[in-house]
Amino acid sequence: MAEVLHKVVDELRQGEAFAPFMEDPNVFTKKFYIESYGCQMNFSDSEIVASILHEEGFGPTRNFEEADLVLLNTCSIREKAEQTVRNRLQAFRKVKENNPGMLIGVLGCMAERLKAKFLDEEKLVDLVVGPDAYRSLPGLIAETESGQKSVNVLLSREETYADIAPVRLDSNGVTAFVSIMRGCNNMCTFCVVPFTRGRERSRDSESIYNECKNLFDQGYREVTLLGQNVDSYYYTNTDDSAVTFGLLLEKVALISPLLRIRFSTSHPKDITDDVLHTMAKYDNICKYIHLPVQSGNTRILSQMNRTYTREWYLHKVERIRSIMPDCGLSTDVISGFCSETEEEHQDTLSLMEQCRFDMAYMFSYSERPGTLAAKRYEDDVTEETKKRRLTEIISLQNGHSRESYKADIGKTFEVLIEGDSKRSDKDWCGRNSQNKMVVFPKMDAPLKKGDYAIVKIREATSATLMGDMA
Ligand code: SAH
Ligand code: SF4
Ligand code: F3S
Repeated sequence: MAEVLHKVVDELRQGEAFAPFMEDPNVFTKKFYIESYGCQMNFSDSEIVASILHEEGFGPTRNFEEADLVLLNTCSIREKAEQTVRNRLQAFRKVKENNPGMLIGVLGCMAERLKAKFLDEEKLVDLVVGPDAYRSLPGLIAETESGQKSVNVLLSREETYADIAPVRLDSNGVTAFVSIMRGCNNMCTFCVVPFTRGRERSRDSESIYNECKNLFDQGYREVTLLGQNVDSYYYTNTDDSAVTFGLLLEKVALISPLLRIRFSTSHPKDITDDVLHTMAKYDNICKYIHLPVQSGNTRILSQMNRTYTREWYLHKVERIRSIMPDCGLSTDVISGFCSETEEEHQDTLSLMEQCRFDMAYMFSYSERPGTLAAKRYEDDVTEETKKRRLTEIISLQNGHSRESYKADIGKTFEVLIEGDSKRSDKDWCGRNSQNKMVVFPKMDAPLKKGDYAIVKIREATSATLMGDMA
């Protein structure tokens, strides 16, 4: 899977909150263009940024050449992700030469990591805004309009943008992301996120509930609750009662049995039986967990500061499968972390063999400046070895994915229709509860996007199930 996603602003959804703009496009006096890279949190943040910009009279465009404001919401997770952003900035350079009034802003994790240095390194950038500073965008834009360069990369202990109704970008009108917390306190030694996103904080549970309820009322049928470590969600209400992640899941699940709930990401140390039982109790909480393992070797896990052992992880997987035998499971794996030996790499392969993940995101270790690993350990596995180990991991996983998808042939699933399949407008596509993509012929059934269909699987590749309505 491509580690860098590319997304262009879509037409505005006809959401209630922004209906006036839809009725009168002239309300927008200026145009903005935004591209997002990295994780779902960044995509979700771009929807908050779009909302803030709308209030300022900026309407979206899909064409950066006609934009007054061009924004890149960036990712720092691996060096390659940063390189992609720099290449993209080069593409904007030419357009800006012909249109000197165009403002170029860098948002997100790379803005936070490089701060004002960005302005020295990339002269065409006018604005640098970190993930907790989006509310200051209007003021910063006003400053840049008078020819100055502006930076705000202050991290916050409180900001959750709880009161901002995101403008859904590139939406299919059926599935949406809802951010429930920000930041991360975990300090995995390889990871830049605690530095770029700051301390962990949970968003007001009422505002999460209201956002999900509004989405449902607007016709959405699936929400994905987002955070770097959703299982440590914890919000204290004004009456001192506490909302844990399990309680939040339940609250959102009760909005309607027709609203599906997903969440990402779970940390193996924090996912509790309580959450697993809540998942099992409600049919509309999807039976799918993304549980990043990173390595199958306990010494490497300890060096990564993941705070669990191989055995702990295997035990969690057992718990998941005993409480929800039909639960889909995916993971993240890193090859060639500092000092990883050949035997330790074999432990990752054998853990994968034991867990049989349905899907995995797999990476070779990329040292990030400022992280604990960069300070403490030598990045001593050669590039060649990292790549070779990654190839072994990928080829093992490909086999497991193929088997997992093939094992679904003959089974029947409830599929939430997301839209036409990529290949043909005669087929619908959507996901089953386990997060597998299912494609099936529309036939003449009176179905539409956002409806549920019961589909019996007839064929499978390693990433798609094909079937027919049962
Ligand atoms: N919060 C999530 C992961 C966020 S980053 C979690 O804790 O699981 C997504 C994935 O990128 C990580 O799970 C890890 O596999 C990978 N990753 C993070 N830093 C990396 C680095 N320096 N080099 C390679 N992969 C990295
Ligand atoms: Fe990074 Fe670890 Fe936090 Fe995930 S849990 S964001 S890998 S520090
Ligand atoms: Fe990248 Fe930042 Fe997400 S570093 S993975 S965009 S939190």
